[in-house]
Amino acid sequence: MSWNQFPKVELHLHHEGAAPPAFIRQLAHEKKVDLEGVFNEDGSYAFKDFVHFLSVYEAATSVLKSPEDYARLTTAVLEECAANGVIYAESFISPDFCGGRDVGAWKEYLHAIQEAADKAEAAHGITLKGIVTCIRHFGGEWAKETAQCAAETKGDFITGFGMGGDENQFTQGTFKWAFDCASEAGLQLTTHAGEWGGPESIRQALDDLKVERLGHGVQVIEDEALMQRVIDEGVTLEVCPGSNVVLGVYPSIKDHPIKRLRDAGVKVTVSTDDPPFFHTTMTKEYEMLEQAFGWGAEDFTALNMTAIDAAFCDADTKTRIK
Ligand code: ADE
Ligand code: ZN
Repeated sequence: MSWNQFPKVELHLHHEGAAPPAFIRQLAHEKKVDLEGVFNEDGSYAFKDFVHFLSVYEAATSVLKSPEDYARLTTAVLEECAANGVIYAESFISPDFCGGRDVGAWKEYLHAIQEAADKAEAAHGITLKGIVTCIRHFGGEWAKETAQCAAETKGDFITGFGMGGDENQFTQGTFKWAFDCASEAGLQLTTHAGEWGGPESIRQALDDLKVERLGHGVQVIEDEALMQRVIDEGVTLEVCPGSNVVLGVYPSIKDHPIKRLRDAGVKVTVSTDDPPFFHTTMTKEYEMLEQAFGWGAEDFTALNMTAIDAAFCDADTKTRIK
């Protein structure tokens, strides 16, 4: 079956990571930025491992220099999401890239992103919410400033706070002040944990940052007691199977633990992470899961219901997308 038109809810999408390579090349051309090493000969993004991926991601992002650039990016990203049946998405947006953590500049970027998202909603019926994101390898001090930007802009559009970046740098607890600040402002919390850092990183995320969702979280499969805790506490995993395979967390979709996690009672959802980097879309994720595990409409409906329950949005929005 073709999953293209099937309505989908996506909780884990990096705003810049969703930029098509042609879009980044066009901006680089307009702004005369040299992106040597960012692309393969066939035009796709070039990286050899996770840490290299992060540096290529940041190089590509360097062409996004103004609120107007982010408005154009938002339009491109949401058109692609909607073309894949996504009706609701949450994307990670970082004040590090949008105005260098200056609150005034951040508000200008956000205004442009939100305006573009409103137009996309009117044109394609897709709703976007923003999760303000600190970047782990930039350290705890920058994360504090990021959290202050988040707290200043909490509202109908900015509903969450999170952290991406290199999970092997620092501890989750390094970012406790930032997460507490965001939580006190009323934002809901998620952090990348258990993509690379194993069960210990997940334990720290739950104990020190008090997150209700885990970005990836898949390595919880390695610790039975921790998995039981994740089940008991109702923590939802933002699982990105295609990303995990391309970056080498698991050798293939068949080896991916998403089915074992779901069968054990863990709340799992499906997302793309950085779709053009990983040659994926939400449609392709569904196709891969159908092929590997025989999942069908009932399974995908259940995954979407889990995603809606865990979405960082108000009850009215949840009712509308159910
Ligand atoms: N930023 C963008 N994609 C990421 C990933 N998969 N893990 C951590 N940080 C990221
Ligand atoms: Zn991610």
